[in-house]
Amino acid sequence: MIGLALASVSANSAISNWWWLQVIITVSYYAIPTMLVYAIYKGRDIPFQWMFLVFGAFFVTCGTTHVIETWYVWFPESLVSEFMKAITAFVAGSSVLLLLTLMPFALALPSPAKLEAANLALENEIVERRKAEAALAELAEVLEEQVKTRTAKLSRANAFLSKEVLERKKAKKALQESEAQLREKATQLEQALQQLQETQAQLVHTEKLSALGELTAGIAHEISNPINFINANIAYAHNYVEDLLRLVKLYGKYYPNPVEEIQEEIETVELEFLKEDLPQLLSSMKVGTDRICAIVSSMRNFSRLDKDGMSFASIHEGIDSTLLILQHRLKANGKSPAIQLIKEYGNLPLVECYAGQLNQVFMNIISNAIDVLRESSTSPVLNSQRSCPSIQISTEVAEGDRAVIRIFDNGPGMTEEVKNKIFNHFFTTKPAGKGTGLGLSISNQIVREKHCGCLECLSRLGEGTEFVISLPIRQQKSETSRLVEMQEAV
Ligand SMILES: Nc1ncnc2c1ncn2[C@@H]1O[C@H](COP(=O)(O)OP(=O)(O)OP(=O)(O)O)[C@@H](O)[C@H]1O
Ligand SMILES: [Mg+2]
Repeated sequence: MIGLALASVSANSAISNWWWLQVIITVSYYAIPTMLVYAIYKGRDIPFQWMFLVFGAFFVTCGTTHVIETWYVWFPESLVSEFMKAITAFVAGSSVLLLLTLMPFALALPSPAKLEAANLALENEIVERRKAEAALAELAEVLEEQVKTRTAKLSRANAFLSKEVLERKKAKKALQESEAQLREKATQLEQALQQLQETQAQLVHTEKLSALGELTAGIAHEISNPINFINANIAYAHNYVEDLLRLVKLYGKYYPNPVEEIQEEIETVELEFLKEDLPQLLSSMKVGTDRICAIVSSMRNFSRLDKDGMSFASIHEGIDSTLLILQHRLKANGKSPAIQLIKEYGNLPLVECYAGQLNQVFMNIISNAIDVLRESSTSPVLNSQRSCPSIQISTEVAEGDRAVIRIFDNGPGMTEEVKNKIFNHFFTTKPAGKGTGLGLSISNQIVREKHCGCLECLSRLGEGTEFVISLPIRQQKSETSRLVEMQEAV
């Protein structure tokens, strides 16, 4: 406004000599907005910056109006001055409007005293906050200390727990191992128990046979002496009788007519028949006692106890003595016909064996044959298929050094399934109480393990069964035992 007044004064009075005043005014007009822009540029956080800009614009327009007014003095017809005035009016009006709207905000700006108080309050707050911060720092330190202590405790507990876990793991492993061992032991015990049961059954079976052997040996021993005595005396009795008969004959020759009493006695005793029959009677008694002696000898043979280990024995004697024990079962009885026995003995040398044990093998195989023949003879279907039940026993030497014994029966034979199981312990097809199922398994053991031999079964259903026993005539000896024998011979 001052600029405008000056401009109009200068224009009206046309004081061109005071032109430098015009310059100062103009420069001032332009210096003020420049400083305002500079202030805005530097003090970026000054509120209502746009207001400074508007003032700046106002001063620029005023300055420009002043310049134009001056210029108008020299060039009065120009319209520029009017145009510039309009712009200045617009800017001035806008500034007034803006100042009006800005007024409440400007008034709301805090006073320096208020600012001072606020600053004080802020400073107090800062002090409080610092105190709180210090307290917090102290607390944090305490907490840190506690955390450290707790962490140490936790580490110790963790180490202890880890140790315990490790120990528990070890204990668990040891437990698992001992459990596995226990399980293994249990399995072993089960197996041992089974073996024990099998051995017990075998022992019972063997015991039965050995009891039979002992009984036979006992009977043979008891009969042996009296029968030998009778057998030996029969010959003397025969001689004495012949002497007496000769004497009687002489009496008859020299005393042909005896007294009546003697004549009557001769008729009563049938002297002529007696003279003929007595020698025959004695002869048949001799045959009988001879047979008893043979039976006793067979019984002795059967009951050999193999106490001195292996010995060279006659296989034929073993078979015969077994047959003697089983003879009563071969005879006809009730509905069952007699079992025919066919022996085809070859020329077998003495075989190195446990004779008593081999007799058990013969006993088991022949009794099985008798069992099936007896059973099938009572079955009409099976019986009709076969004319006469028979057992055939043959022996031979094979491969120069093996004794082979074949025991064949023309019984019903057996199925493949049964055949595959007959050497198993406790396998039997006989009704409970009749068979233990151990006869063949024990026989197999005796032949294989005790004699290094071989026991085979050939059987066809409906055709019969043959057991083939193959034994080495001489047992293979170890080098050491041979050396011992040679030393003994030397
Ligand atoms: N000659 C045979 N013919 C047909 N089957 C046979 C003959 N010999 C044995 N067997 C079969 O083999 C089975 C086993 O025989 P093994 O002698 O081992 O036992 P077992 O005779 O049944 O009983 P035990 O222990 O009293 O001898 C018999 O039950 C029978 O079924
Ligand atoms: Mg049997």
